Amino acid sequence: MTSDEIRKRFLAFFEARNHTVIPSASLVPENDPSVLFTTAGMQPLVPYLLGQEHPAGKRLVNVQKCVRTQDIEEVGDATHDTFFEMLGNWSLGDYFKKDAITWSYEFLTSKDEGLGLDPNRLYVTVFEGDEDAPKDEESAEIWKSLGIPEERIYFLGKEDNWWSPGDNGPCGPDSEMFYDLRPEVGPITNKEEFKKADDQSRVVEVWNDVFMEYEKKDGKVTGKLTQQNVDTGAGLERLAMVMQDKDNIFDTDLFAGIMKEVEGLASDTKKQRIIADHVRTAVLLISDGVVPSNTEQGYILRRLLRRAIFNTDNKEIPEESLAAIVGAIVFKYEAVYENMQNTSQFIQVIQKEQEAFKKTLDQGLKQFEKMGSDGISGKEAFTLFTTYGFPLELTQELAQEEGIEVDEEGFKKEMREHQDKSRSGAEGKFKGGLADTNPKTIAYHTATHLLHEALRRVLGDHVHQRGSNITSERLRFDFSHTQKMTDEEKQKVEDMINEIIKKDLPVSFTEMSTGVAFESGALGEFGVKYGDKVKVYSVGEGDDRFSYEICGGPHVESTGAMGTFKIKKEEASSAGVRRIKATLE
Ligand code: SER
Repeated sequence: MTSDEIRKRFLAFFEARNHTVIPSASLVPENDPSVLFTTAGMQPLVPYLLGQEHPAGKRLVNVQKCVRTQDIEEVGDATHDTFFEMLGNWSLGDYFKKDAITWSYEFLTSKDEGLGLDPNRLYVTVFEGDEDAPKDEESAEIWKSLGIPEERIYFLGKEDNWWSPGDNGPCGPDSEMFYDLRPEVGPITNKEEFKKADDQSRVVEVWNDVFMEYEKKDGKVTGKLTQQNVDTGAGLERLAMVMQDKDNIFDTDLFAGIMKEVEGLASDTKKQRIIADHVRTAVLLISDGVVPSNTEQGYILRRLLRRAIFNTDNKEIPEESLAAIVGAIVFKYEAVYENMQNTSQFIQVIQKEQEAFKKTLDQGLKQFEKMGSDGISGKEAFTLFTTYGFPLELTQELAQEEGIEVDEEGFKKEMREHQDKSRSGAEGKFKGGLADTNPKTIAYHTATHLLHEALRRVLGDHVHQRGSNITSERLRFDFSHTQKMTDEEKQKVEDMINEIIKKDLPVSFTEMSTGVAFESGALGEFGVKYGDKVKVYSVGEGDDRFSYEICGGPHVESTGAMGTFKIKKEEASSAGVRRIKATLE
């Protein structure tokens, strides 16, 4: 059964049970600044799960585009990808466990209306209970009544059978369905065997029914919602794998055409899969309006594209191959999602990013080649990281190709030492912000953010803050960069900053978790260890946003009255670090 047919059958099955089909929301959440991407079908529906009335009613069904990047390292194995489609049926305070489980079972096993899977190969898990919610005997009984024998139903804890989108929001116990890919090995008859089968990918999770009747605040379950909801999610890629009798998602019809175009670019299968996955996700993100940048969604798109390019044998996706890959992706999704027809725009955006990457890549690669042929020391890996923006993982992939080792422990040690050095200063700074709140000092503080960003734009992404000192007379800023700045570069930086001052851009901050701050591309001081929550200051908003940086504040309210920015001195501070002294006049 093709993926198109699976989507069609799913929607029709629930439509026949009084559900309204709703379209997929964008991959970029519209009203939720706490997440970068739609990572589950429930996300766009949160307000309705919390009780707001949905215009299409209490029973909904959809296929939602999702992007998750936290398992990016796993991409290349049998089942991980960064973009996926989730089939979901929804009860917003309407039906609950009995109907949800019964319909899941019917859809999975019915030959006429559903997928016609073999009920003897189905295994299910349910919540074992804890202080937040009781053991889910009810769901287990429903499964038994449908014919699933007791020895194929397993009670598991929160790590496995509780679903919530994060630390806040609707959540609840869930019941998950697994399909046995190798029944010839003989039946699984107890929890230990099941866990082993799961570890060995002998069973694959095909569906999750979440019984959302609880709410979480700051990571703790605080009580029940005013209504009982059902949130189900079945990954289309995995269902296709099961239905098409494949042992990995890349051999399904969703990926096969894309893989064929990628084949010639990399000699090993894992790399081919990484390229196929990352370019596919990139195209879907571009179709939802994301462009490569250094912040937020744009930064993730940039990382995906650079990683795809890096995994090709020649560190390049030639234009012809790119056109063919994008064509294969568009072919799969143009009839399913909006804005998928813009093939030439997709190619153009990717091509432009590829050219930008080539520039920093070459610098870093040259440096890598100069390093020891008998291995990369922790210090060297650390330099590649701080000065050339090579994440450890990239250095490791490079080293592997050369058949040499990277001293990972040494790298981590360098990192720790650096963090220890900066910690005390950073703590003071982030707890209390600037000690001196004289208006001139505050203006220098904002000017420091502008300088940090301007230097990165003029000199490149390898520039990181290495130190800062502010008085009411001047700012002093240390940053990673190896060469003396030319007069022209200094002029460019000054002009850029004065332009922003002239525009009188508003300055504002948002509080968020440190993880989200970095994922969304916020600049931080290199090596500083931040607490769980940080403030991120933006200068300018939307398309006009110039700077986005973690900081305790305070800052000016808008850039207009800061004065004229002037670089007074640019000099070496220590090896690989330059120092600027500047004033506002
Ligand atoms: N929200 C649940 C999940 O993502 C079910 O849709 O697995």
